[in-house]
Amino acid sequence: MLSTGPELRLLRLLSCVTLVLLFQVNDSKRDLKGACSTCRQITDNFNKGFDRTAKQNFGGGNTAWEERKLSKYETSEIRLMEILEGLCESSSFECNRMVEEHEEHFETWWFKRKTKHPDLHKWFCIETIKVCCPKGTFGLDCNACVGGSERPCHGNGVCDGDGTRGGNGKCSCDTGYSGEFCLDCTDGYFSEVRNDTFSLCTECHSSCETCTGATNQDCNECKEGWEEDDQEACVDVNECSKDPSPCKEDQYCLNTEGSFSCRTCDKVCSSCTGSGPDKCKACASGYQDTEGACTDIDECSQSESVCTKEHQECVNNKGSYMCVCSSGYEEQDGQCIKTPQKDKTEASEMTTSAHGEL
Ligand SMILES: *[C@@H]1O[C@H](CO)[C@@H](O)[C@H](O)[C@H]1NC(C)=O
Ligand SMILES: *[C@@H]1O[C@H](CO)[C@@H](O)[C@H](O)[C@H]1NC(C)=O
Repeated sequence: MLSTGPELRLLRLLSCVTLVLLFQVNDSKRDLKGACSTCRQITDNFNKGFDRTAKQNFGGGNTAWEERKLSKYETSEIRLMEILEGLCESSSFECNRMVEEHEEHFETWWFKRKTKHPDLHKWFCIETIKVCCPKGTFGLDCNACVGGSERPCHGNGVCDGDGTRGGNGKCSCDTGYSGEFCLDCTDGYFSEVRNDTFSLCTECHSSCETCTGATNQDCNECKEGWEEDDQEACVDVNECSKDPSPCKEDQYCLNTEGSFSCRTCDKVCSSCTGSGPDKCKACASGYQDTEGACTDIDECSQSESVCTKEHQECVNNKGSYMCVCSSGYEEQDGQCIKTPQKDKTEASEMTTSAHGEL
């Protein structure tokens, strides 16, 4: 009966408690930010509903009697109900649960607190149901974010959990900034202004890996594709002027800032210096240089015939030619032989035999 021993039961109980705690910590941690954003959505929709119902009243018209009615509607339970109806999408479970759970708070605010506490988000989400924190603060106790609640992350990042009861208050820095306080500059940025509470990082010139200023003369180190010239400025490397060329034989090289690309030559060139048939260094086979451009060679009109077999004809095409059998002839085993006129022969044979039988 070991399994029912008191130690073991205690152990089981403890592990259960631990598991429950783990799940709760996880759950509440995830929910804290979510609960605040649900609450924010509710109070935003409340304000929208408030505006939407501003021009309404019980009936219509604008007589003095109606005016009195209107002013009554402005603060009425009916108007509150109309606003509450529009707070949540019917599909949003969390939203509807929060509104249902705290419905009496909306009534309290509507009838008793509205004048003194006009900011519903602050009164409801932050101070009453305590799912949010004031801007620049985070966590269960609404502590100040890293960098202070006035300018969290010194204005150069986002504080985790900012304005919610969740998060850890640490900074995710904007591009160009780094460090716990988002006051440092990342590689590729330099510090333009900096003191204990303020930092401005500006992007380096595109030629610098790291730098101390904005121009290509302020690089500590050139980026790949750039090199230092004799004035210690980073300038573009012309990869295309290198020998051997970084491109293939049938390609031309196009230099760009910090890099280069290889483009295929026009098909009339075997090598070239640029795009188009007039930029060939040498013509592709089947093409010849005519006044600086590579043009098709008409092999068929050369003095020496290229199609030498009997009953062959030459057909020129771009870059080459073909030898085909003349009409009335067809190719068989590399020779052009007269196309047998089967149909006619057969027909006449039949006629003949038919006649013969007659
Ligand atoms: C805690 O939450 C994380 C993600 O939020 C999840 O991956 C993990 O499985 C959760 N752990 C428990 C014990 O629920
Ligand atoms: C830091 O610099 C900013 C911007 O130049 C300035 O507004 C601020 O007063 C300075 N703070 C201190 C402590 O020097």
